[in-house]
Amino acid sequence: PGAAGRINPVPRVGIPCVVLSDGPAGCGILPVEGEENYFCTHFPIETLLSSTWDVDLVRNVGEVIGNEAKEYGVDVLLAPAINIHRHPLCGRNFEYFSEDPLLAGKMAVAYVDGVQSNDIGTSVKHFAVNNQETNRMNNNAIVSPRALREIYLKAFEIVVKESQPWTIMSSYNRINDVYASESPELITTILRDEWGYKGTVMTDWWGGADGAAQMIAGNDMIEPGTKEQAAHIIEGVKNGTLDEAVVDRNVRRILELVVRTPRFKGYKYSNNPDMKAHATVTRQSATEGMVLLKNEKQALPLSPKDKNIALFGGVSYNFFSGGTGSGDIHRPYVVSLLDGLKNQQIVVDDNIKAIYQAYNRPQEQGEQMRINEMPMDTAIIKYAAKNNDMAIITFGRISGEYIDRISSDFFLSDTERELVKNVTRIFHEANKKVVVVLNVGGVIETQSWKEMPDAILLSWQAGQEGGNSVADILTGHANPSGKLPMTFPVTLSDHWSSLNFPIDQKIDRRWSVKTGLTHETKNVDYTIYDEGVYVGYRWFDTQNLQVSYPFGYGLSYTTFEYSKPSVKQDNGKVIVEVTVKNTGKVAGKEAVQLYVEAPAGKLDKPVHELKAFDKTKMLQPGESQVITLAVHTDDLASFDEQTSAWVTDGGKYKFVVAASSRDPRGDVMVDISPSTRKVNNVLNLPAAFKK
Ligand code: BGC
Repeated sequence: PGAAGRINPVPRVGIPCVVLSDGPAGCGILPVEGEENYFCTHFPIETLLSSTWDVDLVRNVGEVIGNEAKEYGVDVLLAPAINIHRHPLCGRNFEYFSEDPLLAGKMAVAYVDGVQSNDIGTSVKHFAVNNQETNRMNNNAIVSPRALREIYLKAFEIVVKESQPWTIMSSYNRINDVYASESPELITTILRDEWGYKGTVMTDWWGGADGAAQMIAGNDMIEPGTKEQAAHIIEGVKNGTLDEAVVDRNVRRILELVVRTPRFKGYKYSNNPDMKAHATVTRQSATEGMVLLKNEKQALPLSPKDKNIALFGGVSYNFFSGGTGSGDIHRPYVVSLLDGLKNQQIVVDDNIKAIYQAYNRPQEQGEQMRINEMPMDTAIIKYAAKNNDMAIITFGRISGEYIDRISSDFFLSDTERELVKNVTRIFHEANKKVVVVLNVGGVIETQSWKEMPDAILLSWQAGQEGGNSVADILTGHANPSGKLPMTFPVTLSDHWSSLNFPIDQKIDRRWSVKTGLTHETKNVDYTIYDEGVYVGYRWFDTQNLQVSYPFGYGLSYTTFEYSKPSVKQDNGKVIVEVTVKNTGKVAGKEAVQLYVEAPAGKLDKPVHELKAFDKTKMLQPGESQVITLAVHTDDLASFDEQTSAWVTDGGKYKFVVAASSRDPRGDVMVDISPSTRKVNNVLNLPAAFKK
């Protein structure tokens, strides 16, 4: 009870009820009246996990989530979600990994391997191009085959080839006119024929329209399934438009899933996972995905003198542990920043606390996704500056399923802006530091105010132990090693995709009614992915646009030196080695990135693309480690629509070892021979949208 769905039992033939439960930030079982209810551990959001750039850590988190799910009787965890962060306002970005398909793909591999090591299944979702919530059940994504292949399908390709997830969940939306769940080109030609997928495909809940078309496409299982869809199937078989052999094929694939499940094997789940151990895992892993955006004059970690803290911002007292919708978790508690600091013997100003706690927050307005910040009197700030050693301000944002964020949610509100302005001015006048903590699920604007505070910590939504994890970093018990899995732009309109995203579009954003295929309202009925492959840093870096914080960026309490990289070629692979040394005073980890710049060829390309990454182990001061970054030359290819082929141009490629997409640390030139791999000519643009 409380899980998202199931495979219906057929006791007559020994088919048990297989349980499907949501993720990705833990096991999503909701309380149900009249049933025995259990809490599940709330782990960090996926965006935080990808900020770790640490596949071993994510694999371990997946393993623990999978164990908890299994012990609650779950057979398939409906996670990870791996859609691309096409635009910062997508309401579900918090559930997704990155704007980059390689990072998203490798994180997905780690997550799936971890969960499935428990002999339960995953459902990698939402296949594919589910990049907005507005009219998500009907929106028609108009995307070029090249952008599909290189950006929107790539992460799925990686996880299918490397991990064979037990199931894939097709997405709600249409792609070039056809519902994803009804697209044989997507679900059979590409997924199974080209990539070799062997598992089961299920719909997203109530997704698609025509049950028979879904069967033909190879979408084996319809969740939760409607009477209409069942009627389509029966009718189709009767009138000969749906071959019974197709139904048998799909049924077989469902049964192949069933027989793998713990339920079928009679596993006796305990309903008693080790919640204490799991809390420790979420606390510790969360610290590794928090991103230190700014740390002037080593404002952090707190020094022993920083004993008394004035805590500003309503969210400090009420942390967001994750987003809303199916990605939410029925957690036992959330540690606020207040509690996290107290747990580490830091004294928080009680008077400020009392003011916040007494504040009668005005009703949140309709679509607003931040809490209404309390206006703070400067006299109180002056009192606080006099009586405390420093100030921390938390700004929070929450978003979730069914609804995209609105543009004003991206910017600080006037009250928030006043708060950071006044607190920094008054505390700085008293020679005291100010730290801003961002308890957000996605990108917000930072350019206009980031000069004010001394330090900025992007804590993301860090699960139920969030306040403890932040306190671990503030006090220096943990050294931040997270780096951004997406760009923080100067402003929203800098994203090319802002021209084609439902920004503040006034429609009923919730469940969209499945209308027929219409091309009426732009960005609602249909969305043109005009930017092609120029998503995230591929756009900003190619245009050399100023950004607030680049992709891959994040500071540490220590410093790292990169040696000159060396390179060799082996068996179709380019292998770059670099030695990374901790040159600072405390132990730390460094995420190392490899970008490749291709020579000019037939297709225009982003100036560089991430092709490999790795993270050091914990390096003690003075310690170094050799990092090996391997790239298969096939993965240097771009997709040529004219010939429907992956084409690697021959010529000199620059392999750049970097600390972020804007922080190159050394490079090597490599001669690559040309190669071409032809694939199927599918998923073409509808005629009306061909250029
Ligand atoms: C979401 C899926 C989720 C499913 C089951 C849908 O609304 O899009 O991500 O797994 O519900 O809860």
